Amino acid sequence: MSPVVSIGAAARRPCTLVVCRGCCCGDARKNPGIDHVWQLERLRSAAAASRGRFALRTTDCLGPCGQANIVVVQPSHEGRRRGGRPAWIGFVTDDASVDGILAWAEAGGPGIAKLSPTLELQLVDPRKL
Ligand code: FES
Repeated sequence: MSPVVSIGAAARRPCTLVVCRGCCCGDARKNPGIDHVWQLERLRSAAAASRGRFALRTTDCLGPCGQANIVVVQPSHEGRRRGGRPAWIGFVTDDASVDGILAWAEAGGPGIAKLSPTLELQLVDPRKL
């Protein structure tokens, strides 16, 4: 078997936060009392300030609306090479969750750094959707 070699952008792909903003995630009717706009802005600002260590993009509904807000933390190229896989984190509805996600992404994310025990409890298994 020959080794897998990534070239170009794939070889430099950073950890990426995929923030769901579909029908329920980010919707005040689903989760009232949360400043969803501010939450997204905070995540976006942190990604911009990370100078490429991690990135952010938004997406439409990912499926597990009952566990909104969903953020999927995708491994960097290096994290994936080390065995990291996307982590689906649910119930991202408080500052502590956002803090934990940002700390994990800053530290390298899946495959590079360990997920906090608190966020581990919030993991969603996309195979069970
Ligand atoms: S809107 Fe986020 S999972 Fe459906």
